[in-house]
Amino acid sequence: MKKILVTGGCGYIGSHTIVDLIQNGFHVISADNNSRSKPAILEGVERITGVKVKNYTVDLCIFDDTHAVFVENPDIDGIIHFAAYKAVGESVENPLMYFENNNNSLINILKCASEFNIPHFVFSSSCTVYGNPDESPVTENTITKEAESPYGYTKQMGEQIVRLTANSNELQTILLRYFNPVGAHPSIQIGEIPIGRPANLVPAITQTAIGKLPQMQVYGNDYPTRDGSCLRDYIHVSDIAHAHTLALHYLIDHKNKSNCEVFNLGTGNGYTVFEVIKAFEKVSQQSLNYTVAPRRPGDITAIYANNEKARSLLGWSPKYNLDDMMLTAWSWEMKLKQEETLFGGKNAQLN
Ligand code: WQD
Repeated sequence: MKKILVTGGCGYIGSHTIVDLIQNGFHVISADNNSRSKPAILEGVERITGVKVKNYTVDLCIFDDTHAVFVENPDIDGIIHFAAYKAVGESVENPLMYFENNNNSLINILKCASEFNIPHFVFSSSCTVYGNPDESPVTENTITKEAESPYGYTKQMGEQIVRLTANSNELQTILLRYFNPVGAHPSIQIGEIPIGRPANLVPAITQTAIGKLPQMQVYGNDYPTRDGSCLRDYIHVSDIAHAHTLALHYLIDHKNKSNCEVFNLGTGNGYTVFEVIKAFEKVSQQSLNYTVAPRRPGDITAIYANNEKARSLLGWSPKYNLDDMMLTAWSWEMKLKQEETLFGGKNAQLN
């Protein structure tokens, strides 16, 4: 059974990926300092898989602490590196915190991967590396433009760091560019737990609908799109998760044609903000309380993926549609509320 180190394993995409890895026969360990996540999410992973995943609560920016994980686990066969800050707005307010955290943690992990001759490495990247593309769908060869935020720059730099490191040693790597991950595992045992007021659209919708937020703002209805609101490629988090399992198999089976390959992970469909709200209202049978507000600085008008490369080379095909994404996101929000009621305090079980 191959052992995989998942950094950021207590996070949203990390925890869903751990479930998929376990269900596909991998042994998984996590390294997550829980600065932006809840260790209790691994209890949800255990409820789904029956497996208790060990998490090393280490700050990956501290080399010695990161190195100690590898000393204790010399049999790691592959790494999936999620651990990073990812709030676009926060990165604008505090760029150095983002450059330090996201780049230093990546560098330490890559140093250890080289020292311990770990052959396979998957990097969590983002469609944000494309900047504001001239047209969509974007392919993996679409020229990446100026990033729209320091967060986006850390993903662009991260890709270069991985690419150039792979060129200098035996590391075989894959960069996975997520479009907009949304929704929750169909078991509703794990899902997204935003820290503070959610910046992203779908948790803002579900928190407004459940009453955590009084009202939601639609940031702009004057964009050159079919209904004036921004267009994105929303993709279910469990589809994203499964792509990581397929990416590891692709490397383990030596199917990769270079030591650093890039894949877009999107559905290939674009939906506007108003269309997402409409889908949510349909599946939740609730009308959403929102207003139209001015555009949000840094937002791009439209982007969605050409996902043919992941389909043909990884054998990946997204299973969940927009209604599934909305229904699982809403079900998870209702579960968080129920736990708050059952156990008192804010998400007591997940503290
Ligand atoms: C989507 C659309 C908003 C909130 C970013 C990162 C990306 C990934 C996902 C990490 C935009 C609109 C949002 C709200 C709104 N991050 N919106 N009201 O900005 O496309 O992508 O988050 O993995 O890398 O770049 O996602 O969900 O913030 O916004 O109208 O309350 O929803 O203006 O048009 P985004 P988002």
